[in-house]
Amino acid sequence: MSQNTFAASARVLEEIGVGPVWVRRHLAVETAEAEAAATPVAAAPVPAPQRAAQPAARPAPAPAPAPAQDDGLPPWLNEMSDADMAPPGFMPNDDEDDEPVIRINPAIATMDWAKLKETVAECRQCGLCNGRKKTVFGVGDEKAKWLFIGEGPGRNEDMQGEPFVGPAGKLLDNMLVAMGLKRGENAYIANIVKCRPTDEAGKDRPPSAQEVASCLPYLQRQIALIQPTVLVALGKTAALSLLGLDPATPVSKLRGTVHRYQGLPLVVTYHPAYLLRQLGDKSKAWADLCLAMTTYADTTD
Ligand code: URA
Repeated sequence: MSQNTFAASARVLEEIGVGPVWVRRHLAVETAEAEAAATPVAAAPVPAPQRAAQPAARPAPAPAPAPAQDDGLPPWLNEMSDADMAPPGFMPNDDEDDEPVIRINPAIATMDWAKLKETVAECRQCGLCNGRKKTVFGVGDEKAKWLFIGEGPGRNEDMQGEPFVGPAGKLLDNMLVAMGLKRGENAYIANIVKCRPTDEAGKDRPPSAQEVASCLPYLQRQIALIQPTVLVALGKTAALSLLGLDPATPVSKLRGTVHRYQGLPLVVTYHPAYLLRQLGDKSKAWADLCLAMTTYADTTD
């Protein structure tokens, strides 16, 4: 990293609340500025962003197993009609022994923005529609080069119909600013599911595998319409849903590598809500965003 780039990074780290910055020794002696930034070692070391690993070709994402309930099924499943059992993007393989795979439903795959928005607003493909106030389609520049993907709406988002409008959203906005981006300008923000998942006590919960499978085709179509350069998965649900990985996989295992989704580079980082609880991991998130920026630069060279 050049001294100028480093200084710029230090500034943005301060902006998202990550600083002060740990500095590699050789950099520290190179400039007084770097030395000043290095003096208080309060934050965890910021690992140098790794270059993109060889993108592994991945199979179409398969839904992760639903969390085990008493009867082994997600609670809302019993309320579903037969029609609901075949959500639009969920097409099981002919071979019963195979894992089900998600393939984009041809109807969704040809929708334009207006039709897609209308379809999402009226969607009743899973039980989440019963509790929602508003669907949360996504927000931002429909030609954005950057797509940030969260888990699903929380209480604030459900009321306002916009993703990331609570405290986590404020942090996300700051992370965008640190990257030279802005909500609505060259950035689009979406979620894995468009309706708020809640538990029986009305608290937010991660979406089930079936809910993800129902909703993912909408996001897939958004990606196809936006044609972003880089995807950033915010947190475990986004990362595992997109990559079709075992639910036990920790985010820490997925960081530092450039994955692929729909042929596009995908960088995984921590969810902003997690970062609000684990301030010490903000520096890691910044390293992830640096990796995403490097990937972007490499892709647009
Ligand atoms: N968390 C998310 O993952 N998405 C939102 O839109 C809000 C909070």
